Amino acid sequence: MAYTVPKLDDYSPASLDKAVQELLTALRQEADAIGSENDWKEFRDRWMARKNGILTQVNDLWLKAAPGPSKRDVGGRVNQLKGQVEQAVEAAQQRTSGSSSKARLESERIDITLPGIHPVLGAEHPVIKTMNEIVNVFRAMGYSVAEGPEIETDYFNFEALNFPPNHPARDTQDTLFVAGQEKKQQRDRLLLRTHTSPVQIHAMEKQPPPIRVVVPGKVHRADTADATHSPIFHQVEGLAVDTNITFSDLKGTLDHAMKALFGSNVKTRFYPSFFPFTEPSADVQVTCFKCGGKGCRLCKMSGWIELLGCGMVDPGVFKFVEKNGYDAQKISGFAFGMGVERITMLKYGIDDIQLFYQGDVRFLQQFA
Ligand code: DAH
Repeated sequence: MAYTVPKLDDYSPASLDKAVQELLTALRQEADAIGSENDWKEFRDRWMARKNGILTQVNDLWLKAAPGPSKRDVGGRVNQLKGQVEQAVEAAQQRTSGSSSKARLESERIDITLPGIHPVLGAEHPVIKTMNEIVNVFRAMGYSVAEGPEIETDYFNFEALNFPPNHPARDTQDTLFVAGQEKKQQRDRLLLRTHTSPVQIHAMEKQPPPIRVVVPGKVHRADTADATHSPIFHQVEGLAVDTNITFSDLKGTLDHAMKALFGSNVKTRFYPSFFPFTEPSADVQVTCFKCGGKGCRLCKMSGWIELLGCGMVDPGVFKFVEKNGYDAQKISGFAFGMGVERITMLKYGIDDIQLFYQGDVRFLQQFA
């Protein structure tokens, strides 16, 4: 039989105790019987509905009807009951919502034994890969790595590298100038660096000799894109300055580097050349890796392939950093610079430089 709130005739403490006990027993039994969210809603309304819920009835039948002297006692008990009912309703709600979230988890069960979806792994771009290889060859010989700005002043890109103003050697570097610089002195005018060589000057300004440094970086030239030209490309520069550095050190260092990059079979030769910032200057050529030196289309039947420029640092360059300990009477050094795209193309037999910049995954995947 469902519990109903009795009318009270007897307001003695003993009789009140009994009535309270019966109500709490009913509360506990009904709470225990709740199995679903719907059950819980019914339970809540039966006990707490403002209109005719059991608490309201208790208020009307017990408290309001109590004779004056008992009001205080009954009021205390009814207040306490209110708290107990609220607690029971809340606890029951937690139990039922707990069981329904269990059901939700159940419905969301996943099969962890299914094979996963493999994310496609990216890979180093071939140009960056080659650049890192070159840098690592020199790091292994004790060189440190430096970088410099891509927007340079005329001073660093040309003047301090011994290209005098208006010298024709400047024309060999098709320079992109920043517009609107005419009011500045020539040496302060901004341009996009045409080579990584200006970082030689930055490095020597920062650090007195001895110095051994390699500089990977991006350079810019006003070239129209075609199979062998790109207006943006990459170089690795090198600089070594110390006491008693000779051309033999330059030859030994670069011969070792070329063998490390292209295999121990390649031979190198140093072919006279000109750069304003080195004297003497040379182009480094390696035996053609396609024909091994016999002569083929790749090496234009010469058996040799030109890979980089180098030379002994011109005393005219040291003049610009003399105050930082670079006294051409006491020290000497060599420098070199190479194009990373060109070396990558030769290494992998790629015949169009534009392939590096098109982002075609079918091309790039081959280097993964
Ligand atoms: N900076 C030259 C260029 O871009 C390459 C080069 C040649 C760098 C000789 C050097 C060097 O350091 O000694 O054409």
